[in-house]
This record gives sequence, C-alpha cells and structure tokens, in this order.
Amino acid sequence: MKIGAVDLPSPFAIAPMAGMTDTAFRRLVKRHGGCGLVVTEMVSAEALTRGIDRTLEYAEYTEEERPISIQIFGGDPVKMAAAAQIVEGMGADIVDVNMGCPVPKIAKHNAGCSLMREPAHAARVIAAMTQAVRIPVTVKMRAGWNEDERNAPTLAKMVEDAGAAAIAVHGRTAAQSYSGSADWDLVARIAADLTIPVFGSGDCLEPEQIIERLASGVEGVLVGRGVLRNPWILAQAADLAKGLPARAVTLEDRGRFLLDYIGLLLHERVREAPAFPTEGRSHDRWVINKIRALGSWYTKGLDGGSQLRIAINSAQSLAELRDVIGAFFLASAPVA
Ligand SMILES: Cc1cc2nc3c(=O)[nH]c(=O)nc-3n(C[C@H](O)[C@H](O)[C@H](O)COP(=O)(O)O)c2cc1C
Repeated sequence: MKIGAVDLPSPFAIAPMAGMTDTAFRRLVKRHGGCGLVVTEMVSAEALTRGIDRTLEYAEYTEEERPISIQIFGGDPVKMAAAAQIVEGMGADIVDVNMGCPVPKIAKHNAGCSLMREPAHAARVIAAMTQAVRIPVTVKMRAGWNEDERNAPTLAKMVEDAGAAAIAVHGRTAAQSYSGSADWDLVARIAADLTIPVFGSGDCLEPEQIIERLASGVEGVLVGRGVLRNPWILAQAADLAKGLPARAVTLEDRGRFLLDYIGLLLHERVREAPAFPTEGRSHDRWVINKIRALGSWYTKGLDGGSQLRIAINSAQSLAELRDVIGAFFLASAPVA
C-alpha cells in the first residue's frame, strides 16, 4: 500500500503511543517483521517551532525505522504548517496530525481531539500543512468528541478534500477514552467513502483480529496496546496474511526482548540526565521507569504476570531488573 508516494511494505503499523513507542521500542518491533509503518510519540507543534530540545528528542528516529511518520499536535494553522516544514526538514517520510488525544491538557489548547469539534478549522489546519510541505500529511482521529458528536465520517471527507494523504480512525469517542469498544463498523463506512487509504485502530490484541479487521475494508490496521503486550503481533499477522501459522513466541524470546530494550535505552536520551553528581545513575532510573511502563502492559495475560509486574516495579537498579527478567523468562535458557 502507499501513502502519497511513500510505499509501505505491510498494511500493519505500530500506533503512536506517548511515553511508549520511543525509537528503541519501535526498532525492536520492526526487526521482527510485519510492520509497514511506525509513528513517533506525539510532538508539540508549538515546542517544535520554538526549538525546544526535549521535544526534538520525542521526534528522534533511526534509518532502520523507515518509513517513519512524525506525529504533531497543535491547533494553529500557521504553526502547524511551520512544524510540518520542520518535520520535513528532519527527514520524516510522513507528518501526522493528532486529532484524537482526549487528554484535557492537550484538548483545551484547541489541539488533539478538540479539533474534531471544529471541522472547518481542522480542515484549514490540514490545508495549510499540505501547502507547506511535499511529504504526505495524514490525520489520526477518533470517532468523534462524544456520543452526540460522532462526526468522524464528515471530518474524514473534509480533511481528504483539504489534501490529507491518509487517515487513521480509532473507533471510540474522546468521552469514551478507552472504555467500551472501538466501533469498527464506523471505521469501515469511512473507508468505503474515501478514496485515500484509511487505517483502523482499536482493540486488536490477537493477530487474528488484525486480519479480520483488514478484511472489513480498511487499507491498514494500527495496533497499539496489542504491540505493548506482544511485540510480535504484527509479524504474526503478516504470517497469517501469507497463509502461514502465526510464529510461536517463547518465554525466552520475551525475556530477550526486554533485555534488548534495556540495552538500546541505555544509549537513548542520555542528554535528559540532569547534571547532578548522580548523573549516570539518573539515566539508569529513566531506563528503569521505561521498563516499568512497558511492564504494566507486557506482563498482562502471562502466567504469574502480576507477580512479575510487582517484581519489576520493586527493582531498584538495572542489575536487579535484569535478574528479575532472567529469573522469570530465562530460568531454563542460557543467558548470553
Ligand atoms: C499509552 C497510550 C498512549 C497513546 N498515545 C497516543 C498518541 O500520542 N497519539 C495518538 O494519536 N494516539 C495515541 N494513543 C492511541 C493509540 O494510538 C490507539 O489509537 C488506541 O490505543 C487504540 O488502539 P489499541 O486498542 O490497539 O491500543 C495512545 C494510546 C495509549 C494506550
């Protein structure tokens, strides 16, 4: 499939997840295969245009992640166009606009999902961006703001007319946050109405569900929490799409993933470490917190998962954390 002139090797993608889908995580998922597109964590257009270093770190990516989409949020057409140019200058293949975030801190600034409440303004944002850059501009939205304002079908058409090259729809309203279930019928209706590619998003926890959703008429499927629980899910869906059985993932594979993630994180965002005497250790602390954040998803559905989660959250050093991971996942495997 294609987004504008950008070829995607697979219709399955890692959904953007703030705090979770950093470059290290995306690389590891991508190395397993089956992943056609990765999207960065959302980045503030305001901060991008002001050149705030910390923001630039959220937009970092490596060549092996291509094609890469950088997601930005904001509500001012001029600033969003300027931010899109910065994203293009950073070498991203695609710039994506967040119109789905329900968090009040974002939504109250006329950004995220609150843009859905003003569709004409949202379309102006997209028009300004598409005129400012050559790379494809895409939009990620929800079903709507609330039950009374389920306007994704109208907004989708408007942003298509404004020049968007693809859209993704998470079939819940902002008011629902993550409760209830995603409305894939709505997503399929939008896909049938539009000529640009439509990705669906929501509630794919098993590879079979990804295949089922793809068959409902969308061009692609974005998987979020399912990837945090099972980073092999896109590769397994790709297996199924080829008529093969989904590859087996052993406990050892799962343990190695966490150890590899620690290894990569140790080389990321080192600049975030404050200039205290404990400098080196504070970066370790950041890595520990990242593993804890992933651990809350990664341990779900595992036998003994809740004890593992507690052990991960209690580990006070990277050495302890590695021991916890080794004891749970690699007890019978040789530790390389
Ligand atoms: C922890 C977390 C962070 C998220 N952050 C973002 C984000 O930054 N931008 C965005 O468009 N969606 C974000 N989402 C929404 C996901 O991209 C996705 O649409 C949603 O979780 C539904 O898909 P899922 O059921 O496969 O997780 C986030 C979701 C989660 C769980």
